[in-house]
Amino acid sequence: MKKSSKDYQRLGKGGHWMIRLSLSVVFFLSGLFKAIDPKGTSYKIAEYLTSFHCYQLADNEMLMLGTSLCLCLVEFVLGVYILLGIRRRLASWLCLILSTGFALLSLYVWIFNPVSDCGCFGDAVVLTNTQTFLKGVFLLTLAGMYFRYWNKTESLLSDGSHWIVSLFSMCFIFLFGMLSAFYLPMVDFRPYKVGVNILQAMEIPHDAEAPVYESSFILSKDGKEKRFSLENYPDSTWTFVRAENKLIKRGYEPLVKDFSVSDTLGNDLTDRILTEKNLFLLVSSDFSHADDAHIDEINEIVDYCHSKGYEFAALTASSGEDISKWQKYTGANYPIYISDEVVLKTMVRSNPGLMLLEKGTVMAKWSCNNLPMPEEDTDILSLHQDTRTSFLQLLKIILCYVIPLLFIIFVTNLQRTNKTNLNNSKMRKKIVAGNWKMNKNLQEGVALAKELTEVVKNPNCGVVICTPFIHLASVAEVIKGSAIELGAENCADKASGAYTGEVSAEMVKSTGAQYVILGHSERRQYYNETPEILKEKVQLALANGLKVIFCIGETLEEREANKQNEVVKAELAGSVYNLTAEEFKNIVIAYEPIWAIGTGKTATAEQAEEIHAYIRSTIAEVYGQAVADDTTILYGGSCKASNAPELFAKPDIDGGLIGGASLKAPDFKGIIDAWK
Ligand code: 13P
Repeated sequence: MKKSSKDYQRLGKGGHWMIRLSLSVVFFLSGLFKAIDPKGTSYKIAEYLTSFHCYQLADNEMLMLGTSLCLCLVEFVLGVYILLGIRRRLASWLCLILSTGFALLSLYVWIFNPVSDCGCFGDAVVLTNTQTFLKGVFLLTLAGMYFRYWNKTESLLSDGSHWIVSLFSMCFIFLFGMLSAFYLPMVDFRPYKVGVNILQAMEIPHDAEAPVYESSFILSKDGKEKRFSLENYPDSTWTFVRAENKLIKRGYEPLVKDFSVSDTLGNDLTDRILTEKNLFLLVSSDFSHADDAHIDEINEIVDYCHSKGYEFAALTASSGEDISKWQKYTGANYPIYISDEVVLKTMVRSNPGLMLLEKGTVMAKWSCNNLPMPEEDTDILSLHQDTRTSFLQLLKIILCYVIPLLFIIFVTNLQRTNKTNLNNSKMRKKIVAGNWKMNKNLQEGVALAKELTEVVKNPNCGVVICTPFIHLASVAEVIKGSAIELGAENCADKASGAYTGEVSAEMVKSTGAQYVILGHSERRQYYNETPEILKEKVQLALANGLKVIFCIGETLEEREANKQNEVVKAELAGSVYNLTAEEFKNIVIAYEPIWAIGTGKTATAEQAEEIHAYIRSTIAEVYGQAVADDTTILYGGSCKASNAPELFAKPDIDGGLIGGASLKAPDFKGIIDAWK
């Protein structure tokens, strides 16, 4: 057994599912969280680029937003692919590439501290840089394992629904991300969300834990730099270069750490702003990049506030020159105050955006694309905003994706089931084939064939009798004009020549036979027919216009060790999966568990169906679903008139290869009648 198979067995199906679930949840959620706040993600990407000194790229807001949306899409769709088993190979590659990239980035973040948090899950889950690194390593390990066993991932969907599920997922996440960028994030994970009192959020309890830093000092001597701590600080022969402080343990951190407002002269107005009643704040981190398409609406709101006696002011981090330009361009007659750029971007993800504060409590926020327009009978103050918990909002968004997705899966699966049933009943050929083995002399064989022609009239399936070589020519004469077709039980692995006692495929064909059984377990076992020999035989049979009934099946020990799938797949791979799809159309598979042949023990209909479906899935892997759907797969092993109906009722069982019960016409006829 291959080492990877052994390793997989150790991992087990459960282990594989755990890896699959973990990866899909991580990618699905990180894509979703980023799409909830694509602008936040674009700021984070710009932060990374700035740390790499790519200032021009980082300054291009549209490029950053586009990159952010692409990242959301790739992560979200990858999560869906891994969970549902869509495009498994592509998904495993993508997962490995992304995880490797993230692991390298997290190592960089851990060592160089360029950002305070990685932004993997937007603002929903904030990790320290050490946690980010550990997460990166863990994710890469899982991705490596998933990549190794990608082909063990079973698809939860029918092939036909893959493209529509992909398309729906891509459209959903892209549109959702666009809407979030155009308006405001539908779930606010930031400190300035509606309902938060900024004043309270800034408070630090007097017994709060302080942060712990480790200080180190870099000094030089003779052109060499060395790091010291306070404990081993060197003598004055060393020259001080710089000091470094590393955060060892975060202390208590208030929800809002850095909110402050001042006027253009530098006077602190924070307290005033946070105690004001009905204060409308126009928030613009940078006036020079603000969307100026809504100036009239903003001015209308300003007039409205003045008429109602509400305060209106602007907060910005713009330069004095940009502030003057804004005032001139918009005719702003409201006070403009200064605050930190990052704080302003965190407060409202829109430039400009509007925030309503009531004594420091955030009452509402609006993007410039949906400003609240004053109407005669409604006061803007009464336009309360949703303060439901983030969890419920998140659930609502996930349901908006999951419910239509389930509907799509249901409809496409229904269509496929109908199509498969149609395939089963109409397209795929049903066959009942007899394998006489080494029974009946010539006269007995001819008599049986004659009797069969009398009883088998208008069967609902193909009927084939496979006889010893010496019967072929005579039986061919007897069954001429009947519904019965003829096959041999073997043929040589050589085309012709000095091979005493052998019968070639060409000779078989010349008797009038259309089929030949190859790979029967009795020939594998007693005549040492190896996969290579069978490969030759199959090639020669097909080259001579014969159809091949190719037998596969496991021993009792193999079944008990639960290796049946592995065994049948290897038998197919060893002798017939080298064929072209066109050649493969002339192959009929006969699954014959060796422990059921001539023993009276039949595989249960469920056992047989399970492995038939598996065989069909491996054919689909090699030749595609259409060829797999057209391949006839027979069951063989103590099949009788009494159990045939139950076996044949299974969707992937297309008939039987019958040994003992094919030697008596009434018995054989009873099995053929199971198709009625
Ligand atoms: P039985 O039907 O006698 O079990 O034999 C099955 C078989 O080997 C057909 O090829």
